[in-house]
Amino acid sequence: MAYNLDMTRIPEHVAIIMDGNGRWATERGKVRSYGHQAGVDAVRRITSECTRIGVKYLTLYTFSTENWNRPADEIAALMGLIISALEDELFMKNDVKFRVIGDFDRLPKNVQDKLNGLMELTANNKTMTMIVALSYSSRWEITKTVKDIAREVAEGKIKIEDICESTISEHLTTNFMPDPDLLIRTGGEIRISNYLLWQIAYSELYFCDTYWPDFSEEDLHKAIATYQKKQRRFGLTEEQVENKENEKKEE
Ligand code: IPE
Ligand code: IPE
Ligand code: MG
Repeated sequence: MAYNLDMTRIPEHVAIIMDGNGRWATERGKVRSYGHQAGVDAVRRITSECTRIGVKYLTLYTFSTENWNRPADEIAALMGLIISALEDELFMKNDVKFRVIGDFDRLPKNVQDKLNGLMELTANNKTMTMIVALSYSSRWEITKTVKDIAREVAEGKIKIEDICESTISEHLTTNFMPDPDLLIRTGGEIRISNYLLWQIAYSELYFCDTYWPDFSEEDLHKAIATYQKKQRRFGLTEEQVENKENEKKEE
């Protein structure tokens, strides 16, 4: 089934919790890392399709702070995959800028080098920014932000009475991107697992059972088509939102 997308209302920022790799592999009688490997193909597919349809920011939850507690061999396989999967061609061919959010210092040196190299190489690409959340958790990020702001207060750079919501947004590691319009979680779980808690305050949430390695362009279209049917009210009434939209059209 094809989904008719309204190309004038493509979400600017799509965030994805890419879940289900392990179960995908286990169901096939394979080791979990086989599922992570298959997940890389899905990353390629979805990145290319997002650039094609006009998504501007794609944020992929790749490895959480809590994932450091997984068995050492799975962590090692994931770190190896991160290095081999981030091929220059994917980014250069699609004109995609690469960024990372997360606790960089915990990553092995060869992973850090790879990420730094790719960020440098793709710094001037413009069609889309792909952000990989690696060694990331929202509570880690918020804790870091609180410390950074407290330090600036102690140094006299910020006054306590001047702290507002934008002060917090500007100190988060995501300060270079807008909040996600659409958050997708694959793999059947209806939870957030410590992802972008501040940033998804008004995101539309979409959950599907498909395991990440099976997530296709069509599944992405379905998620976006569902998003496009929603009225985002941001606390206003239906009527207020309609009036605003009409005013915009008249401009
Ligand atoms: C998501 O897939 C990828 C990572 C967390 C690294 P999982 O590895 O969590 O797969 P399931 O949820 O166990 O199937
Ligand atoms: C969330 O998936 C993290 C990533 C997709 C990287 P998990 O599989 O780690 O989340 P839980 O444990 O099911 O909540
Ligand atoms: Mg999982």
